[in-house]
Amino acid sequence: MKTLIIVFSQSGQTRKTAECIRDGLVSMQGECDLVELADVDTSVLADYDLVGLGCPVYYYQEPFHVRDFLEDLPDLTDRHWFVFCSHGSIMGITLHTMSERLEKKGAVVVGHYHIYADVCSPFALYPSYTTGHPDEQELEEARSFGMDLADRTPRIAQGEKNLVPALEPPDEELVKEAAALTPEIIKFIIPPYTINRETCIKCRTCETTCPVNGFDIDADPPRVQDPCIGCSYCVMACPTASLEADWSLMAAHNHEHYPYMKKWLDKAAAQGEFRWRMDPDSLDYDDYMYLQHLRKLKEKKSD
Ligand SMILES: Cc1cc2nc3c(=O)[nH]c(=O)nc-3n(C[C@H](O)[C@H](O)[C@H](O)COP(=O)(O)O)c2cc1C
Repeated sequence: MKTLIIVFSQSGQTRKTAECIRDGLVSMQGECDLVELADVDTSVLADYDLVGLGCPVYYYQEPFHVRDFLEDLPDLTDRHWFVFCSHGSIMGITLHTMSERLEKKGAVVVGHYHIYADVCSPFALYPSYTTGHPDEQELEEARSFGMDLADRTPRIAQGEKNLVPALEPPDEELVKEAAALTPEIIKFIIPPYTINRETCIKCRTCETTCPVNGFDIDADPPRVQDPCIGCSYCVMACPTASLEADWSLMAAHNHEHYPYMKKWLDKAAAQGEFRWRMDPDSLDYDDYMYLQHLRKLKEKKSD
């Protein structure tokens, strides 16, 4: 079975998961191609018997450019696809909307998979609830998912029914939360960036890190508003912290948001879907990653 996995991954968690799914598929069928979303040529998709698409969860859903990729796919009638994502505490509606978009194109979704993973974002806390995830057990589950796909997809192609484990409907609360987080709102809540031209070394890492070419170092302001997906990796990737922004308003929200996330993780833990690897009461709500990033650079400078 000719299989392709397409992956978008900024901090490597989804890619790690994709590689494990691929290992599972390869152990059963000998081969499986893996390609970055940015490099995918949609004209080759029809050459594959099974295609998978994986991405991180951003704002309870697939990143906006992944959504656009799905919307722009050609007709997929009777093509077999699977979807997967990595995320911190709340997967939200990601697997649901990715599957729905594929089904609208006529695809048959033969699997969906999600995995808990560490978070990297200027307004996030570190370490946090999901630091240390995915662990070896979770990655082994990803390999098993790949093996299951290799087993079930040919059987589905031959007409066997009811082989795909059902995806539980999303929680109504999260459907509402995700619907409110539109690209327009994200643009509004992410603070404006400025470039400190005195410290900027023009390495252009911010530009190359941006998955949607939404950044222009020579422009003022440098963040090209459209089509920013709000990932903020440009900020974390800057080796001189020259992309300056005031994250304190977003970070202030951590005092409410982390207990909210803990609620969902406790629920997942009670269902046997998540295993705590840390003490959730040990978080320092005010020490977010952007501050840590600045501190590290300062320490490096004084060495
Ligand atoms: C801007 C941003 C928004 C995020 N939103 C969510 C979210 O809504 N729910 C969640 O569980 N994790 C969220 N995360 C965490 C990522 O989904 C998680 O770290 C993911 O594993 C990153 O994947 P990658 O390493 O493949 O880039 C967010 C991360 C970023 C940077």
